[in-house]
Amino acid sequence: MDKINILYTEEEIDKRVRELASELYKTYNDEEVVFVCTLKGAVFFACDLLKRYEGDARLEFLRVSSYEGESSTGKISLKMPLDAEKIYGKHVVIIEDIVDTGYTLEYIRKYVSDMHPKSLIECTLLDKKARRVVDINPTYSGFVIEDLFVVGYGLDYDQKYRNLPYIGVVVKE
Ligand code: IMP
Repeated sequence: MDKINILYTEEEIDKRVRELASELYKTYNDEEVVFVCTLKGAVFFACDLLKRYEGDARLEFLRVSSYEGESSTGKISLKMPLDAEKIYGKHVVIIEDIVDTGYTLEYIRKYVSDMHPKSLIECTLLDKKARRVVDINPTYSGFVIEDLFVVGYGLDYDQKYRNLPYIGVVVKE
């Protein structure tokens, strides 16, 4: 396996996820919330966030694709749709792994908002703010990071490294 430099340890991620879960709970209290997890990258984050969330949570999945290797193609395609009935009239939180150019989140936001939720916000684990092309800012973000290609905790490089329990950067020899 390639050498990986750790950026956030399991403990650091866990601490931040707990903080986000508690901030979200303060927003909704006991109102029902539908969390929409974007596959595959956000799945580890979504599971941990929901385990820490104390309110009434539902979980739905959506899959879009835009990346090949290390670069966004800019062309987003829907690979697994959402059931509109599960979204209509609900408080919805889109859970993303990472926001880079912003194209993917912009696409998902529009797709979900066309299903007329009661409210809609986004919660991303990582935000590469400096790389943004589209004017979109997630409501909650775990960590704002520099322009680095990161892997682990669900994030992949050509489908590899998702299973790492930490977030790191692949050291290219
Ligand atoms: P955007 O459309 O450029 O904002 O890209 C967002 C999507 O690209 C994310 O949901 C990830 O799947 C992927 N992505 C962006 N940056 C990284 C990275 O550093 N590591 C792994 N995947 C990334």
